[in-house]
Amino acid sequence: MKKLLDAQSKSIVNIYDEINLWSAPFGRLLLENIPMQSSIKILDLGFGTGFPLIELSQRFGESSKIYGIDIWAEAINRTKNKIKLLELKNIEILETSAISIPLADQQINLITSNLGVNNFEERKKVYAEMHRVLKTDGSICITTNPMGTFEELFDLFSIVFKEMGLEDELEKLNTYLQHRNTKASIEAEFKTSGFKLVKSKSDHTNMRFSDPVAVLNHSLIRIGFRRYWEKMIQEEMRADFFKRLLDKIGLHIQSEGAFSMKIPILYLEFRKSEYS
Ligand SMILES: C[S@@+](CC[C@H](N)C(=O)[O-])C[C@H]1O[C@@H](n2cnc3c(N)ncnc32)[C@H](O)[C@@H]1O
Repeated sequence: MKKLLDAQSKSIVNIYDEINLWSAPFGRLLLENIPMQSSIKILDLGFGTGFPLIELSQRFGESSKIYGIDIWAEAINRTKNKIKLLELKNIEILETSAISIPLADQQINLITSNLGVNNFEERKKVYAEMHRVLKTDGSICITTNPMGTFEELFDLFSIVFKEMGLEDELEKLNTYLQHRNTKASIEAEFKTSGFKLVKSKSDHTNMRFSDPVAVLNHSLIRIGFRRYWEKMIQEEMRADFFKRLLDKIGLHIQSEGAFSMKIPILYLEFRKSEYS
């Protein structure tokens, strides 16, 4: 057994919160559903700051080998620090894009990706690589946030765009929303890459706010979303747009007590089509 970890140690405290609240409900669904087996090879695509890579390493143990692929240098450094502090010996980090996976054909039993695939550019190339490295009877288990994410907020975007006569912005919003994944669209993409869906689970979580500005100032929104929303709107209209949006969120909070944004969660598990 490895040595106990000291909860008073600064470095242990620094890695204690190892998954953010956005990724956690997706990861919970993933970890509750992935097929469990001993002595296997796992590949985690887009592990960010180490999730679920480190959790997989700890749950499958040292009889298994876990490869992690990512391109985000700062996050990879953080993950390496966690791996070192936790003395995990069964992880190998591959610092490269998943469009070209530096592994031999047909050697992986399980591929996971928590909130990864919808972030990959050239997804078809990534799927082709997943197909190449996966064993014939291997599994791919992914989670993603499909169409419907933050729909209460986007309904208000739409109302404000209409109010301001912003036709182009309304069209951009509709295109942005229509292009979000659905279970059917992901299944179709995987099907053309040679996989069949064998299991799916749906769930949802909610982000609730009691202050309008807090919605736009939340760190998750500032890191992952607001940039795209701002780009959608002509610069000279932005201040007015956000003011009106905040007023609408405020009215909602006054009448309902909170502004709640739904986040649908989808878990999908695939096998190679030729394997039945
Ligand atoms: C939303 S984050 C998810 C991180 C983590 N799995 C989690 O649950 O917190 C998506 C991750 O995919 C990675 N990524 C994006 N494109 C990639 C690519 N082409 N190859 C490998 N990783 C990629 C990003 O760097 C990022 O770490």
